[in-house]
Amino acid sequence: MTVLEEEACIVRNEQVGPRLHMLELESPSIAQSIAPGQFVHVRIPNKGAHILRRPFSIYDCSEQAGTMKVLYQEVGSLTKYLPTIQSGHLSVMGPLGNGWSALQRLADGRLSHALIVGGGVGAAPLFMLVEQLARAGALVDVVLGAQTKDALVCREDYARVLGREPLCATDDGSFGTPGFCTVLSQERLTQGSLADGLPYDYVAVCGPEPLMRIVCAQATEAGVFCELSLERRMACGIGACLSCVVETKEGKKRSCVDGPIFDACEVVWQ
Ligand SMILES: Cc1cc2nc3c(=O)[nH]c(=O)nc-3n(C[C@H](O)[C@H](O)[C@H](O)COP(=O)(O)OP(=O)(O)OC[C@H]3O[C@@H](n4cnc5c(N)ncnc54)[C@H](O)[C@@H]3O)c2cc1C
Ligand code: FES
Repeated sequence: MTVLEEEACIVRNEQVGPRLHMLELESPSIAQSIAPGQFVHVRIPNKGAHILRRPFSIYDCSEQAGTMKVLYQEVGSLTKYLPTIQSGHLSVMGPLGNGWSALQRLADGRLSHALIVGGGVGAAPLFMLVEQLARAGALVDVVLGAQTKDALVCREDYARVLGREPLCATDDGSFGTPGFCTVLSQERLTQGSLADGLPYDYVAVCGPEPLMRIVCAQATEAGVFCELSLERRMACGIGACLSCVVETKEGKKRSCVDGPIFDACEVVWQ
């Protein structure tokens, strides 16, 4: 797939939760070609301090409007500076990476019941996937985890595309099941899909690494194919610098071109 570079106009950049922001960009060429799970590499033009691009998943996009959304969390220099920019352009490179295999599996008849698990800002690369799976008629259950109710910023979007509430857990018990969302994923994997109790045939997970390790182990134990999105630090984003290497059973792979989506059975956890 061709990698494009666009000067994307900032349409919206607003705080949606604690240290969480939704950025909407006008980027027609990338919005038309990006698939769920792929990412863009973003740079703030004319800012020496932020010379390196940063990778962000696409939360949602509208081909018609030529826009795409990024849900980002403030963690360091670029993501703490970004909320101060309310207009102008960002340099965006994409689509990058491989994307989830779920839609292909659905088309091939290998997916009928999907369990989607997002922890914290890890819910970001999963929303477009859920939207497209639900639209294509797959049975999808969603588990979301966050530290607090305020941080469950995607809950209403997921409820809208699912037509019902996602299953939620919060660390502090302020919403949904108290504790980690891995309790909910374990429950679902042993009890089967909410629609008819039949076993799942696909799991996708993104979030903090400890969460992904647990969900991958739960899926493997239940004998269900599982994919995860691995967020490695990246420099070039196009496979040239080897800064994003992931250890797999087939040897080292570059997360930016061979991932960020990996088969759970393939990853060798460090
Ligand atoms: C494929 C991919 C998709 C991503 N999608 C999203 C997304 O949708 N929303 C979002 O908020 N973030 C996402 N990230 C993480 C995001 O790229 C980093 O948070 C961002 O690069 C941090 O930049 P910074 O300049 O603010 O922080 P820096 O000043 O560069 O670093 C601050 C701290 O964050 C840590 N850090 C930086 N990058 C990463 C990383 N990739 N993984 C783990 N820790 C990191 C550093 O170790 C350091 O402790 C994604 C990462 C990848 C690889
Ligand atoms: S970021 Fe350069 S090889 Fe992946």
